[in-house]
Order: sequence, then structure tokens, then C-alpha cells
Amino acid sequence: PPLDTIINTFDFEAVAERTVTPKTWAFYSSAATDLLSMKLNRRAFDRVLFRPRLMRNVKSVDTRTKILGFSTGVPFFIAPTAMQGMINPDGEKAVAMGAGEEKVIHIISTNSSHPISDIVSSGKGPEQQTHFLQLYVNTDRQKTAQLLANAKSCGLKAVFVTVDAHISGKREADERLKVDVPVRSAVSGAISHNDKKGGGMGRLMGLYIDRTLNWEDIPWIKSVAGGLPIVLKGIQTAADARLAAEYGVQGIVLSNHGGRNLDTSPPALYTLLEIHKVCPEIFNSLEVYIDGGIRRGTDIFKALCLGATAVGVGRPYLYALNYGAEGVAHLTQILKDELETTMRMCGVTDLSGVHPGLVNTREIDAL
Ligand code: FNR
Repeated sequence: PPLDTIINTFDFEAVAERTVTPKTWAFYSSAATDLLSMKLNRRAFDRVLFRPRLMRNVKSVDTRTKILGFSTGVPFFIAPTAMQGMINPDGEKAVAMGAGEEKVIHIISTNSSHPISDIVSSGKGPEQQTHFLQLYVNTDRQKTAQLLANAKSCGLKAVFVTVDAHISGKREADERLKVDVPVRSAVSGAISHNDKKGGGMGRLMGLYIDRTLNWEDIPWIKSVAGGLPIVLKGIQTAADARLAAEYGVQGIVLSNHGGRNLDTSPPALYTLLEIHKVCPEIFNSLEVYIDGGIRRGTDIFKALCLGATAVGVGRPYLYALNYGAEGVAHLTQILKDELETTMRMCGVTDLSGVHPGLVNTREIDAL
């Protein structure tokens, strides 16, 4: 169907399900074991209601904000997702192009299909467009140091260290299907191939990830990141959020990896509420982002009201990439438009006007 008939994130998903190869669909859409966390990610947003304030002048609204001090047109970013070349040969290069058009920040995965330099140069260039790096730390630490040096020289502006994937989840849809065409990441060098346990791409491409990585490695990561801000992605408890603040990182992404790793791990929204209850002071020392299940402008607005600086959107961008750079730009416009509608209906004209009083979280407060 033509792009102008796609009016929400679910339309992109439905087209992808019908048109991509079974293996690509299995890798992109799958989640861990019984898919409970993936489904809960959506349900958590459904259980938060608005407390809209009315009779305000909402003629013009502004969705611009800053993430780690970098300007963005919208308070959401393109979450790092591996092997974007599986759905479109241009992969991350097309994402960079579409993201540049709409001023949305793209986080480049360590398991990207294309080299970082090609991705950055496909967009508006490092002066005009912000990209961040997602980091999987390699058992060969020298390779990680080289990757960070390369990322910095390509103009990437921050490092999102993924901390919830020392091991990949058991993603059964992905395990059952053999890898038909072996794929290789141009950034990490990881290759998918079949083994005795099946063809699970997440697992096969994560074999180089260092399972010894721990809090005491944070100073080392800082030392090889050349001064770039550090964000920990995958935090799931207030206790770890507090540790992140103590270790002096600039941000955390509350995330259960789109439900792909530990099944029945909490939706990020629950962790966000837990932080409000247990250690609200950390909002003063680092930025908090959330991801998982964000499919609507209302979801984005709820997260911002509850203190998130921005949110990450994962699978929808993969499905939009089916339509190339234009699809990426179109999805961004859809989410931005839904967010603007929500802001107007809640009586908010710019993002400094969000606050917890605009949402009713009673249904999930007891958790
Ligand atoms: C991911 N995610 C991910 N995260 C990461 O830190 N490094 C990576 O390489 C990947 N790769 C990846 C591949 C695919 C196919 C998916 C769907 C996800 C997780 C991603 O960054 C994010 O946390 C979730 O996708 C957010 O959930 P939604 O928006 O997909 O529901």
C-alpha cells in the first residue's frame, strides 16, 4: 500500500508482517519466551489515564527539546536496533537520511549492517544531525576501545551502553527459523549462522558480548569514551538507577529490551514510577529515558509527564524502514502529530509544561 495510506505505527507493522521474509519478521517482531513483557509494555501505557487541563490557548505547540544537551525536533529517539539492512538494503543509511529530514536522533547499534561513517554521511552530516552510539562491550576490550574512538571521530555525540544483554533472551520464533542468508554486522563483525540450538539471530550475534561487564568497569568505559556522555540502557529497578547516578553517568534508559531478554521483566513505566517513590532525587543528577511498547503520541506524552526526558521507539522504525528514508520520516511525522494533538488536548504548549498532575497512575501505583 502507498505510504500516504499509512496513518499509524500499527499500519507499518501490518504491512511488514505481510511483506518481509519470515526470518526477518521473526527476528524483528519476536520477544522472549511467552512474550509477557512485550505485551505488558503496551498494557502499562493503557492503564495510565490523562487529567487534561482545558481552556488554554493551544493554537501553537512546540515539540522541540534537548537530549543530553543536543537539540531534537521531538522528545523521542530511534532506539538502537540491530541489522537494519535486513528489511531494506540501505538499512541504517536510510534511517539516518529519514531521521535528518525530521530532526529525530538516531542511536546506531553496535550490530549495525553498515559502517558508522557511511551511516553518518548518509544524513545531513555530523554538524547538522545528531547520532549516538549504542555499545555492546566486546570480550576483546581493545575492539571496544577502537569502536569508541571510531564513533567519536565520525561525530557521534554519546554512548548508550546496553547493560541488560550480557546474554540474549530465548526468542523462540527466531530460534525456530534457520538463518537463510547469513548476515554480518559491519560494525561489530558479528555473523549470524545456524548452530545446534537453531538460528536465533539475537543469540548468535551476541556471542562476543562481555558477560563480565560490571559497575567497576564504568570508569574504564568513561576513559575510552573520550569524554562523550555515557548512558546506561536497560535499567529495571530503582536500586540500579541509584547506582547509575552514583557512578556518575549522564543518563539511563529504563527498558526491558522490548521484552526480548528477560520475560516478565517490568515495563519501563513501572520502573519510572518506582524511581518516583524510592529515589526521586536522581532526576536531578541524570536524564531518564524509557522505551518499550511506545506506539502512540499519548504514550510519549504520558512518559514525559512522569519525568522522562525522552522516549525510545524501536520496532516501529524497523517496520517503517520497509518504505526507506521516506517511511522513517513519515513515521516521525505521525508520532509528532499525535503528540501535538495530545499536548493541545491536555492544555500544554511546550514540553516545559508537562508534570505528573496531568496523568492518573492509580491503576499501576500499587505495583
Ligand atoms: C533491539 N534492541 C536493541 N537494543 C540494543 O541496545 N542494541 C541492539 O542492537 C538492539 N537490537 C534490537 C533489534 C531488534 C530487532 C529489536 C526489536 C530491538 C532493543 C531496542 O533498543 C529497544 O529497547 C526496544 O526495541 C524498545 O521496544 P519497542 O519500541 O520495540 O517495543
